[in-house]
Amino acid sequence: MKPRDAPIGIFDSGVGGLSVWRAIRALLPAEDLIYVADQAHVPYGPRRLEEVRDFSLGITRFLLSAGAKIIVIACNTASAAALRELRQLYPAVPFVGMEPAVKPAAERTQTGVVGVLATPATFQGALYASVVERFAADVRLLQHTCPGLVQQIEAGALHAPETRAILEQALTPMLAAGIDTVVLGCTHYPFVIPLIEEVTKGRARVIDPAPAIARQVKRVLAARNALQPVGRMGKAQFYSTASTGQLASLLPQLLGFSAPVRPLHWRGGALSPE
Ligand code: DGL
Repeated sequence: MKPRDAPIGIFDSGVGGLSVWRAIRALLPAEDLIYVADQAHVPYGPRRLEEVRDFSLGITRFLLSAGAKIIVIACNTASAAALRELRQLYPAVPFVGMEPAVKPAAERTQTGVVGVLATPATFQGALYASVVERFAADVRLLQHTCPGLVQQIEAGALHAPETRAILEQALTPMLAAGIDTVVLGCTHYPFVIPLIEEVTKGRARVIDPAPAIARQVKRVLAARNALQPVGRMGKAQFYSTASTGQLASLLPQLLGFSAPVRPLHWRGGALSPE
């Protein structure tokens, strides 16, 4: 297979990475995409970074065995846990990872106060510390882990009163402290942007990093001459390590179409379709 004919591999702990999937699909419609949702282990956020790193390694191996030409870690938590190590382990493979978009937030804030919503593991990682050190010297960052929000989104409860209550708890004190910008440091959260906007009532701009990640994927592939020729319709494959029915039932709500979901099983730290 020529590099350009190979698929793009994308993964997350669950449905969150679909917010990145949809940005990649919109920008690169000719590309074949393989998506892995590690729903056997969702949420990643409260877990130890070592544990999340091991899951990320297992999923990366699976995606490479499926021929992926690039791996998109569509998960801030997995990026915090594994991006550096994966690049060291597979120097020939391009990886695109995620970090909370503190840089654009720091550039745009007028009040100098920025809210960051992300998982506990993301806040603990060295990647976040480095982003804060490099870009947030002159801004005040208010952080919140939004306990339970990932599970609500995994359940498809995008408009539920409980989901709104979690967001109110996180955002109300931030608004009182003067935030004018909210960074979505977890790929699940773009799916509740309508609720976030209801809570913030236009007082804060929401930064979803997915379009920037898609542009980065395009740049990396273009530099390697590994983009599919335009005009073809890219295929999409979806895998879940838990209930394939659960993911399949959420795709219409999250992506606007139905698609089959195939099972993957964890065995001794490795993933297999059998
Ligand atoms: N979507 C993920 C992230 O971007 C992980 C959420 C979780 O599993 O806790 O951090």
